[in-house]
Amino acid sequence: MLHRVIYASESVGATGATTLSIAQILGVSERNTRRDHLTSCVMFHQGHILQAAEGARADLDRLMRRLLADPRHSGLRVLADTPIAARRLDEPMALCDDPRSLLERIGMACISRITASEAEVMLDIRKAA
Ligand SMILES: Cc1cc2nc3c(=O)[nH]c(=O)nc-3n(C[C@H](O)[C@H](O)[C@H](O)COP(=O)(O)O)c2cc1C
Repeated sequence: MLHRVIYASESVGATGATTLSIAQILGVSERNTRRDHLTSCVMFHQGHILQAAEGARADLDRLMRRLLADPRHSGLRVLADTPIAARRLDEPMALCDDPRSLLERIGMACISRITASEAEVMLDIRKAA
């Protein structure tokens, strides 16, 4: 049984604001998510982070434990954690490279007050693109 977790958090320091900080996260994540057969997508926007990850329960739980312990972000809140029939994400670790236009498509200016259903709509838009 596959599950999808969507969470939001706040960047600490330069996280998400510099190419280096993003590259460091993507490098480790790609390796781990491939190993664990997870698929994932992360968005950085104005100090806020939104990430969706899909895969088996135990692998997602392990990922969430690592994320909760990571000092590069704070205030992690799970917006959705549900069983899914099929994946919406295809890559081990995708970076959403145009967060502003994706947010605009759902009528939001910022990640901070996003709901699970709005995040799901963004995943649909990405998949259809
Ligand atoms: C915003 C953000 C997103 C992250 N996403 C992932 C991820 O999808 N997969 C992953 O393994 N680690 C991710 N990490 C890194 C983990 O928090 C942790 O540092 C890493 O999994 C440790 O891997 P290691 O035990 O192989 O060193 C992320 C970190 C941040 C700050």
